[in-house]
Amino acid sequence: MSTQQVLDWLTENETQSIERFIQWLKIPSIGTDPKHDPDTAKAAQWAADHLKESGFSVELKSTGTKDNPGQPIVLATSPGDDDYTGPHVLFYGHYDVQPVDPVELWDSPPFEPTHLPADDHAGERIVARGACDDKGQVLMFLEAMRGWHQTTGKPGGGVRYTILLEGEEESGSVNLEQFVDDHKDTLSKADVCLISDTGMLGRGKPAITYGVRGLAYIEVTLIGPDQDLHSGLWGGKVPNPINELTKVLAQLWDQDRRVTIPNFYDGVRELTAAERQAWQELGVDPVAALKGIGLPPEANIGEKGFNSIEREWARPTCDINGIIGGYTGPGAKTVIASKASAKLSFRLVDDQDSEKIAAAAIQWFKDRTPPGCTWEFENHGGGAPATCATESTPLQAAFRAIERACGIKPAMIKSGGSIPVAGLLKTTIGLETIFMGFGLEDDRVHSPNEKFELDCFRMGAKSHAALVEELTNSTSD
Ligand code: BES
Ligand code: MN
Ligand code: MN
Repeated sequence: MSTQQVLDWLTENETQSIERFIQWLKIPSIGTDPKHDPDTAKAAQWAADHLKESGFSVELKSTGTKDNPGQPIVLATSPGDDDYTGPHVLFYGHYDVQPVDPVELWDSPPFEPTHLPADDHAGERIVARGACDDKGQVLMFLEAMRGWHQTTGKPGGGVRYTILLEGEEESGSVNLEQFVDDHKDTLSKADVCLISDTGMLGRGKPAITYGVRGLAYIEVTLIGPDQDLHSGLWGGKVPNPINELTKVLAQLWDQDRRVTIPNFYDGVRELTAAERQAWQELGVDPVAALKGIGLPPEANIGEKGFNSIEREWARPTCDINGIIGGYTGPGAKTVIASKASAKLSFRLVDDQDSEKIAAAAIQWFKDRTPPGCTWEFENHGGGAPATCATESTPLQAAFRAIERACGIKPAMIKSGGSIPVAGLLKTTIGLETIFMGFGLEDDRVHSPNEKFELDCFRMGAKSHAALVEELTNSTSD
C-alpha cells in the first residue's frame, strides 16, 4: 500500500496545504449571522471544490424552507458502485465558525489568518477564527484525501467515503435532523461516522474521544412592572426583576454544587471504578490547566465527590452563559428595569434527555415565580450525549492509524463539549462515531485569538492518511 507515499506527499506539499488553509480561513463563514450568508455559501463552495479536485462527486444541498432557509450542506460521495474496500466511512465536519466578538480582544483581525512562529506560549500556528474549530481539522482530512488521490489516482485511496460538511453546527444544527431524515438512504449506507472536531490529551499526545456530552439550552425572562422605574421611588416597594431573577438563579445549585432541579440526575450512568482508574492514569493535571487560564489551585471546584476530569467527562452541569437586564452603560443610573433574562446551558451525559431536561428546568422556574411577576421561556435546542463503542473494528483501525502517523498510541479520552450530530446519527440510523480530533486545550476555540498549531495539523493529516490503509486492511465484525 502507499501510505508512505501519501505521508511524503503531505510533507512535500505542506506549503500549499497551508496556503489553502489560509484561503479558507479568510472566508468569514459565521453561520449564525444572516449578514454572512454569502460567506457561508462561499466557504461551502470552497470545500466542495476541494473535494471535487480529489475525485469525489459533490453536491451543495440547500436546507430549511423557502421562507426560512438554512446554511447549505456539502455532500460528497465516492463515485462508482464497486471497487472499494474496507468499511464505508461517513466523515462529518463543519465549515461554519463562531462569531468573533469581542473583536477588540483579537491581536490580529479574525479573518486575516496570521502565521506565527513557535514562542514561549505555543508552537508554530495559524491564528484566525475557525482555525481549530473546525476548518483546520476538516482540512487535515481534505488534504489527506487530496494526497491519496494525487498519489494513487483513486478518490479516498480506495476506501468509500461519504462526506457531510455542515454550516450550522455552531448555531445548534437546526436543519440537520431534517437533512438526515431526507438523506437516510445515502447516509445509512455508511458503516461508521468519523469526526475531527475534538481535542488531544495535550501537546504531542493524540487521542481518540469516545464520548461527548449533550446539551440543553434555554433562555428565561422574568417580567415585573410594565415600565422601568426610579429606584428611589419604587425600590423596596415592588419586585425588582433583576433581584428576583438572580435569587432564583442562585437556587439552581445546592451546597454540594449539585443541580437542584427535580429528577435532573435521572438516568445518569454511574462511573465505574475501572473508568475512574483509567482516567486517573491519564495523568491529567487540573492545577496546570487552571494555571493556564489564570486561576489558582483552590479554584478546582465543582460537584462534590468527583474530580475535575470526572466532572467534565461524566457529570451533568448547569451554567449561566449570560445575564441581560438593567443599566449597563457608563456611570450610575438609578433604575429598576422592567425585566431581566438569563441564558442557561445544561451539559448532559448518558442517558439524560435534552428535551426532558429543558422541560424540567422550565417547570422549576415556574414553581419559583416571584410575586406579581411572569416568565417567558425560549428553548434554544440542544443535542443528545454520545458515548461510542470502544472495541469496534473501525475504531481499532483509527487507533493503529494514529499510532503509525504520530509514533505514539492515542489516549482514550472523553470530552465535556457537545457535537450533537453523533447522538443524532446513533438514534436515527444507528451509526457509531469515532472522534479523531487534534485540538489543544489552549486553542481558544470560540474565543479571541483562536489558533491551530501546525504540529497538530500535521498529526491529523497524517492520521487521516494512514487510516485509509488501516481501514482497507480491517475486516468488519
Ligand atoms: N467542536 C466543538 C465541540 C468540542 C470542542 C468538543 C472541543 C470537544 C472538544 C463544537 O463546534 C461546539 O462548539 N459545540 C457546541 C455545541 C453546539 C450545539 C453549539 C458546544 O459544545 O458548545
Ligand atoms: Mn466544532
Ligand atoms: Mn464550536
